[in-house]
Amino acid sequence: SDGASGVGALAGKHVLVSAGGTREPIDPVRFLGNRSSGKQGSAIARAALEAGARVTFVAAHLDVAPPAGAETVPVDSALQMRDAMLANAPGADAVVMAAAVADFRPAELLGSKLKKRDDAQDPVIALVRNPDILVELVARRNAEEPSQFIVGFAAETGDEQGSVLEYGQAKLARKGCDLLVLNEVGADASGAERVFGRDSNSVQLLSRGGGDPEHVAGSKDEVARAVVRRISQELAASRG
Ligand code: CTP
Ligand code: CA
Repeated sequence: SDGASGVGALAGKHVLVSAGGTREPIDPVRFLGNRSSGKQGSAIARAALEAGARVTFVAAHLDVAPPAGAETVPVDSALQMRDAMLANAPGADAVVMAAAVADFRPAELLGSKLKKRDDAQDPVIALVRNPDILVELVARRNAEEPSQFIVGFAAETGDEQGSVLEYGQAKLARKGCDLLVLNEVGADASGAERVFGRDSNSVQLLSRGGGDPEHVAGSKDEVARAVVRRISQELAASRG
């Protein structure tokens, strides 16, 4: 073997990865969206392919081309992404939920374009909560496939109530996934954007089993290889 993240480390394994940002339809021409570029999820799919895995890639509106060699399943909304993830999760050795899923969607999808009207009030769009896909994947795993390894992502900002790390640890516990890739988002002290659309990243890897967080700074490819290394190590340990 070339080591835990190298060539062949995931040979014979199936990895399911989501990436990008969902779009929640308002009317036939409009949506609510978010700023995810899909770069980090694509990098994870690429790193898993390089390690020899078969990769299914559920992609919502990427700014980048999906990795060659993955089986790509394009989706639009959170509800479509949930269906695609739950359909492809059975039998996967690892699942990585890197997509930015909209927390809410418009309560109703208008059949025709929302119009400006001078004789009426400005519209208010009511929202309802989307299902938590990661939580549903963990519930399915717990019920049917306890050896499946599940990775979640979190983008957090610290505030008076807690640090980025504290919010990350709480989210890991709430979600029940095995590994959480924790990102600090928002502008840094110089006002520059830290994560979205950028090629570099700085994350902490938190595991459900406890232990010190692993800090990884570098390109999104380097972060991806670190995540794939953790997946490979875990799958090797549970096999042997
Ligand atoms: N996620 C998901 N389904 C959702 C929302 C989030 O699967 N409806 C996943 C994301 O893909 C990510 C993880 O959950 O892997 C954490 O997403 P995040 O937005 O940080 O967490 P939320 O539970 O939505 O909490 P918050 O209120 O902080 O946004
Ligand atoms: Ca969210």
